[in-house]
Amino acid sequence: MGKYEIVRPSEGQLRDYCAIASEAFGMDPALRYAWSMASGIEHVRVALNGGVVAAGLKIKKMGHWFNGKRVEGWGIGGVATAVHHRGEGLAKGLMADMLREARERGVAVSALYPATSHLYRTLGYECAGVYQRYELPIRDLQVDRAPGRVEPITGDQVDVLKVVYERSARQHNGFMARPEYFWDIVFNAEKHHGYVLYCDEEPEGYVIYNRRDMATGDERDVVAINDMHAVSPAAGRLALRLLASLSTINNAARWYGAPDELLYWLLPEQRIKPIYREHWMLRLIDVEAAFRQRGYPPITGELHLEVADDVLAENAGRYVLTLRRGEPTVQRGGSGRIRCDVRALAAVYTGFASPQRMQLLGRLDGPDEDVALLSAAFAGAAASMVDHF
Ligand SMILES: CC(C)(COP(=O)(O)OP(=O)(O)OC[C@H]1O[C@@H](n2cnc3c(N)ncnc32)[C@H](O)[C@@H]1OP(=O)(O)O)[C@@H](O)C(=O)NCCC(=O)NCCS
Repeated sequence: MGKYEIVRPSEGQLRDYCAIASEAFGMDPALRYAWSMASGIEHVRVALNGGVVAAGLKIKKMGHWFNGKRVEGWGIGGVATAVHHRGEGLAKGLMADMLREARERGVAVSALYPATSHLYRTLGYECAGVYQRYELPIRDLQVDRAPGRVEPITGDQVDVLKVVYERSARQHNGFMARPEYFWDIVFNAEKHHGYVLYCDEEPEGYVIYNRRDMATGDERDVVAINDMHAVSPAAGRLALRLLASLSTINNAARWYGAPDELLYWLLPEQRIKPIYREHWMLRLIDVEAAFRQRGYPPITGELHLEVADDVLAENAGRYVLTLRRGEPTVQRGGSGRIRCDVRALAAVYTGFASPQRMQLLGRLDGPDEDVALLSAAFAGAAASMVDHF
C-alpha cells in the first residue's frame, strides 16, 4: 500500500475508477459514471499508483432505523481494484482510510453488501442482517375485500412515498434511511408502475413494480416489484388484492421484504416463500454514537461493556450503556463486565445474532444476568434491508 495515495478523484479520475468498477461488476461505464455523478463525485475515494487510478470505492451517506430511531451511517459500495493491482492491499487500505475519515466525521455505523466477507471482517465488519426476496404465486389468490382505495402515483406524490416508507422503516430494524437520490431508483415513471394504498384517507402503503417491457428471462411472467410497503393490515390486504388483480397475465409476484413480512401473516396458507437471501455487514465506527442514536425497548438497566477493536483504536475500551425505560445514556468507563470484539457487537447491535450465540462462539463473555440484559436491550424485529447498494 505504501506507494499509493488515496484521494478524492477529479472528473477524469472518476472516469478511470468507473472503468475499473464496470469491469469488476459488469456494468456500462458511462452509466456507472452518470450514477456516480448523480450521487456526488465527492463521495468517491480512489487509490493512485504513480498518479494512475488503481482502485476505488463509493461512500453512500445514509442511515438505518433501529427500534424507531435513525442511526447515521455510511454505506459502502463499488469497492474495486484493477485486476493487475489485486492482492497488493489496496482495497483494505482504501477501506481503512475511509473508516478513519468516517470516525473523524462522527459517523456511527457503516454497512455494506460483501462480495467476500474476509476482507471486511479484517476491518471490523460483521454479518448483521438479511436482504431477502419473496415470491407469491398470485393465480387463484383469494384475499378478503379491504376498505380503502388504490391511486396511481403521480410525480408530485413522491413525498407520500417517503412518508409511508419511513413509517415502514420504523417498524423494522436495519431498514435504510434512504438518501434523496435513492428515490429516483425507487420510482421512475418511465420505468415503473406505482400505486399508493389509502386506508381511511391516509396513505398506508404503496406498490411499485417494473414495466413489463423490462422483464426478461424467468421474470417474464412475474410481477417484479421494485418496492412495496404496507404499514397496516388493511394496506397489506389492499396490496394483496392489487397483486391478485394482475394474475390473469402474471403467475407470481416477487419483492424484497423483511423476514417478518406483514403480508405473510395476512394469508391463511404459507404461499409466500423466500427465494433468495444474502447477508449485509455492519461496522460500528463509533460505539458510543451508535449506542446513543438507536432506539431500545422500554427496559431499565445498566450494561458495562469492554469492546476490543484493533482497527479503530479510539473505539476500543469500556462503555456504560444505561437504559431508563429505553432512554439511553452512554459513558466511557465502567467495570466492563461484558467483553466482546467490535464485530460480535455489530451482529448483536442489529439483533441479527443473540449475545448467547456470540458467547458460544467465544467472541463475547460476561455474567449470565448481564448477557440476558444485553439480549433484551437489542431485541426486536429481525434485522433486514430491502435496498441493495
Ligand atoms: C475484492 C477486491 C476489491 C479485493 O481487492 P484487493 O485490492 O485485491 O484486496 P486486498 O489486496 O486489499 O486484500 C485485503 C484482504 O482481503 C483478502 N481478499 C482479497 N480478495 C479476496 C477474495 N476475492 N476472496 C477472499 N479474500 C480476499 C486478501 O487476502 C487480504 O486478506 P488479508 O488482509 O488477510 O491478507 C478485488 O478482488 C475486486 O475488485 N474484485 C471485484 C469486485 C468485487 O468483488 N468487489 C467487492 C465488492 S463488496
